[in-house]
Amino acid sequence: MNPNKALWEKGDFTRIAASMRESGESLVADLEITPGMAVLDLGCGDGTTALPAARLGADVLGVDIASNLVEAGNRRAQAEDLGNCRFQEGDASNLEDLSDDSFDLTVSVFGAMFAPRPFDVAKEMVRVTRPGGRIVMGNWIPNDPTLVAQILKISSAYSPPPPEGFVSPMTWGVESDVTERFTAAGARPEHISFRRDTYRFEFPGPPADFVAEFRAYYGPTMNAFEAAEANGRAADLEEELVALFTAQNESPDASTSIPATFLRVTVAL
Ligand SMILES: C[S@@+](CC[C@H](N)C(=O)[O-])C[C@H]1O[C@@H](n2cnc3c(N)ncnc32)[C@H](O)[C@@H]1O
Repeated sequence: MNPNKALWEKGDFTRIAASMRESGESLVADLEITPGMAVLDLGCGDGTTALPAARLGADVLGVDIASNLVEAGNRRAQAEDLGNCRFQEGDASNLEDLSDDSFDLTVSVFGAMFAPRPFDVAKEMVRVTRPGGRIVMGNWIPNDPTLVAQILKISSAYSPPPPEGFVSPMTWGVESDVTERFTAAGARPEHISFRRDTYRFEFPGPPADFVAEFRAYYGPTMNAFEAAEANGRAADLEEELVALFTAQNESPDASTSIPATFLRVTVAL
């Protein structure tokens, strides 16, 4: 089994995605999407950005490596009667089912960054996007003090070291790495731009319950807890995560609202 696919089919990412819907919609509202635009959402999950793009009238294809998330996305699109939004399985490192120059806009929000072989990923995104089109990526930033980078940092201290040759997904949050990958794929460096943006995680319960949600349903956190349990350190991991979520929570009531900074990359082709 492909470990990249197994990681994301583990648990149920739709439970975490539910906390990211509002930010997904806001990001999409800022992408100048017009009716009839052909949009690819790569590493789309269950459609946090694909569905809002389709509601704006775009013709949206969501591609994801996890079959359970593809099914969930198709169910969500059908429930809303969005005939212009469909989801299929695929690997961002090799989009063999998609023709050259097929899309006006390729979006990948915390999606393609998790695929192996980042140079192949950049090459595939450039290949399927038409000249004159755009690529927009949202990527978490390594060592950033906000939520997601800190979850990964804490979790990695409890997990076995990655295999030899593993390229961290977080390198997609480093501007020089992103520029190197897209220029190798044929994009012009002066057409690659960066800005910092914010996603907000909104959860209806307190921070400790949100940590429990990650522990039960988010593949990377599930793996970290499995490794920690094997070493008798699961309680320490839980304590560190609850302290992190609590410290970053900005909600004035019993719910959780945590902002997280990401790198927004735009490549004009
Ligand atoms: C953090 S989730 C984000 C999902 C979605 N973009 C969102 O904003 O909710 C990462 C997604 O990337 C997908 N993914 C990971 N590796 C992939 C690959 N090689 N090709 C396509 N999708 C991949 C996962 O299955 C998962 O849905």
